[in-house]
Amino acid sequence: MSVRQSTLTLDGERHTFTEGETIYEVAARVGKTIPSLCYDPRLEAFGGCRLCVVRVKALRGPVASCTTKAVNEMVVETQDEEIEALRKTLLEMVASENPRIDVDPLRGYASQELTTLVDRYDARTGRFAGANSGHSKTDDANPFILRDYDLCISCYRCVRVCAEQEGDYAISVMNRGFHTQITTEFDNPLKESACTFCGQCVQTCPTGALGDRKAMRFATEDDGQQTADRRVSTQ
Ligand code: SF4
Ligand code: FES
Repeated sequence: MSVRQSTLTLDGERHTFTEGETIYEVAARVGKTIPSLCYDPRLEAFGGCRLCVVRVKALRGPVASCTTKAVNEMVVETQDEEIEALRKTLLEMVASENPRIDVDPLRGYASQELTTLVDRYDARTGRFAGANSGHSKTDDANPFILRDYDLCISCYRCVRVCAEQEGDYAISVMNRGFHTQITTEFDNPLKESACTFCGQCVQTCPTGALGDRKAMRFATEDDGQQTADRRVSTQ
């Protein structure tokens, strides 16, 4: 049985796609980078951050490319002045409510995603400074996962990876809006939850709100050793 090939126009170029692909997936496949924060290719699209918006000809407003399926003969622009301005405003809002944008890259694989985007869009303006959501639980006495939710942007990647990839459902969400808090069942420490300490949540977090305590500890110890070595070699 032959698979029907469909075609769309992306920033003026024709590309084929298979039924079911989203605009974001087609763009990524052909080497275009659309900014995103709540997207993780392993997970069901969530459509929360709106950074991935694109313009589709014949549609009135921009649409989230991560949740919009490609359609035959669709014409898409991944950026224009208005869309870039919208992305900057969204990042200014996220940055304004985040007490720290710069975090140690050793916290996790994706921990620099927010920093990179905020700097690319020059979004450290503090224009929307006000309430912050999420409160750190850095006193959670487990040796593996730092829970620094002051830096949380409610992208739910940790919640989704725990459910969709691991099937553990150890992480959940409490409240809404500025009161949103990533937590566990009964708000217990991770050790008393269904968490298996697989580390998937840490590696997908785009802000470093979750951190790999082992890697961070090793770096500190290693740095101490290197400092000692440097002292010895100069004596
Ligand atoms: S802890 Fe990280 S991954 Fe989880 S919702 Fe917050 S920012 Fe997203
Ligand atoms: S990446 Fe599409 S809405 Fe967040």
